[in-house]
Amino acid sequence: MKGKVIFDKDYIISKIDNRIYGSFIENLGRCIYGGIYDPEDPTADENGFRRDVIQLVKELNVPMVRLPGGNFIATYVWEDGVGPRENRPRKPDLAWKCIETNQVGTNEYMDWLNEIGAEAMMTVNMGTRSILDALNLLDYCNRDSGTHYSDLRISHGYKKPHNIKTWAIGNELDGDWQVGQKTPFEYARLARETAKAMKLLDGSIEIVAAGSAGQESPTFGEWEQTLIQQAHPYIDYISLHQYYLNLEKDTANFLAKTLAFDEYIQSIGNLIDYMKVKTQSSQDIHISLDEWNVWYHNRQQDHETIRDRGKDWPIAPAILEEPYNFEDALVAGAMLIALIRNCDRVKIAAYAQLVNVLAPIMTDKNGKVWKNTIFYPIYYASKYGRGTALRGIIHCDKYDSRDFSDVPYLDSVAVISNDETELTIFAINKSLNENMVVNCDLRSFGRVEMTSHIALENNDVYDINSLEHPDKVVPKSKPLTQNLNEIVISPLSWNMLRFN
Ligand code: AHR
Repeated sequence: MKGKVIFDKDYIISKIDNRIYGSFIENLGRCIYGGIYDPEDPTADENGFRRDVIQLVKELNVPMVRLPGGNFIATYVWEDGVGPRENRPRKPDLAWKCIETNQVGTNEYMDWLNEIGAEAMMTVNMGTRSILDALNLLDYCNRDSGTHYSDLRISHGYKKPHNIKTWAIGNELDGDWQVGQKTPFEYARLARETAKAMKLLDGSIEIVAAGSAGQESPTFGEWEQTLIQQAHPYIDYISLHQYYLNLEKDTANFLAKTLAFDEYIQSIGNLIDYMKVKTQSSQDIHISLDEWNVWYHNRQQDHETIRDRGKDWPIAPAILEEPYNFEDALVAGAMLIALIRNCDRVKIAAYAQLVNVLAPIMTDKNGKVWKNTIFYPIYYASKYGRGTALRGIIHCDKYDSRDFSDVPYLDSVAVISNDETELTIFAINKSLNENMVVNCDLRSFGRVEMTSHIALENNDVYDINSLEHPDKVVPKSKPLTQNLNEIVISPLSWNMLRFN
């Protein structure tokens, strides 16, 4: 099969905001306890953080981390997680029917983020708490000193304020599983008043308002419209969440789902534009795609386990741990290509989540870690997908699948590095069985040299990495060619081509 991509220096989409390579951690399962934090682990540092995990997180070069929830946030009391550890209460977490020990809270999150070199997107509880509670947390985190809460932080050993710039107002509050579920209007008003008050307290912050839990939500669309109508002067981003499933085990259809991802982003983008006109607002609102991934392998089973829990709620059980296979990595790679392609709209994104829970990084006790398959496209996008995004003109055959028609076999986007010395092309061949010979037309770049071709390709779409076999699905370097008219990419493969 043949394909053609044209990338031209002038076909600029936008400068990429590095924060699109952000991630998400939640007090859920073994993400925090046993993942990021485990004072018993031989790799633990003086703060109880696992050094082996920190090293892998640093490889991913995560610029921003959304925390601490997720569904967890709806009953979280931030005050429980600060001050001397021995005084911190154990509380029931209604979202995941677990016991939260509060051994990791606001200051520990910030210590850990400093270790990995990332900034925070701090989420406030809008399910069951008030505007005032959000203000108190902001004062605790961002004011130098001289108020009750800033002085409380200092008394906890943190003289310097955390200066958190990005704040999220609750999570998925349209969802009927959410404690404190709200109607579109209830949330819109509360988000408006919370954002307004928080910006009065600290005019330097930015606000992410919670969008719908997903496109299937009964109030999808109405939720976003009402939110912008009410809150537009005070919010900077609307959050979107998207997880893909492949319960039918239909690879072609699974790979086609990322077409819907593009459409999802664009439809909210269009709504934002329409509402800007309608409200005559000067405020620019962007998208924070702050939960995205594949999630289905153990989803139903986990749901039943949580639903059927008796009175004994566990601490940090292994839930939502997805054994990502090869085709999941292709879908993650395609979602990253879509994020880059929509980087004029999407300024923040977060793969959900980072460690153990729906994660690229997995841990076992005693310093054992491994990389789930999705680690690799995330790693390469984060490393080489920074700079300016170029829109490709793509010519290729198309296919029809169970839910989609006219799916291009070739998906691709390109990035010019910040120093403008390198061009990186990400490309996926969605054909199940045919090589694609790609004519790569880099017309305005003059003479370029291919310096690297990394591919993720595998015979079996169901292969996974595990503790026992951590390197079953790994990227490989392909032979280089300087004949850009005939670059061969394998069937079902994710590719990164670099030129200078
Ligand atoms: O990431 C897992 C969960 O998915 C989050 O807690 C919630 O926001 C979403 O429904």
